[in-house]
Amino acid sequence: MMKIAVGCDHGGIVLKESVVKTLERLGAEVVDLGCYSTDSVDYPEYGEKVAREVASGRADAGVIMCGTGIGISIAANKVKGIRAAVVTNTYMAQLTKNHNNANIIALGGRVISPKEAEAIVEAWYTAEYEGGRHQRRLDMISRIEDENFK
Ligand code: RB5
Repeated sequence: MMKIAVGCDHGGIVLKESVVKTLERLGAEVVDLGCYSTDSVDYPEYGEKVAREVASGRADAGVIMCGTGIGISIAANKVKGIRAAVVTNTYMAQLTKNHNNANIIALGGRVISPKEAEAIVEAWYTAEYEGGRHQRRLDMISRIEDENFK
């Protein structure tokens, strides 16, 4: 069973229930790392929490949400081994698994609707990584990480 870590700030929380329900319907075990209300919080905290869960292997992958998906993805991508992709439609969601093997997707609560989030999560979750020439490119990204991250 896939274990998926989920995290958001106050700008992304509007999507969380739909995202969690969709992941559970698809058979995933969901770990909800917060936030849990619409009170203002800082997205880097939640991006880091989900990213560490995934990078450590405690979770297989993650879904993060803020107002645009951008800030929280930037934070998550500062954790070594994370490939967090902001996606705004199902095409990007599928392609970022096929080609980038994104281990986290980032969604914007002020950009997409909960219904769109459901379709996007399903497209990413059910897509397969294609490997091959794409692995060479991911290896290049790992090399950049090795040279620049502690
Ligand atoms: C919070 O107001 C907002 O800046 C945050 O949710 C996110 O959109 C940042 O990228």
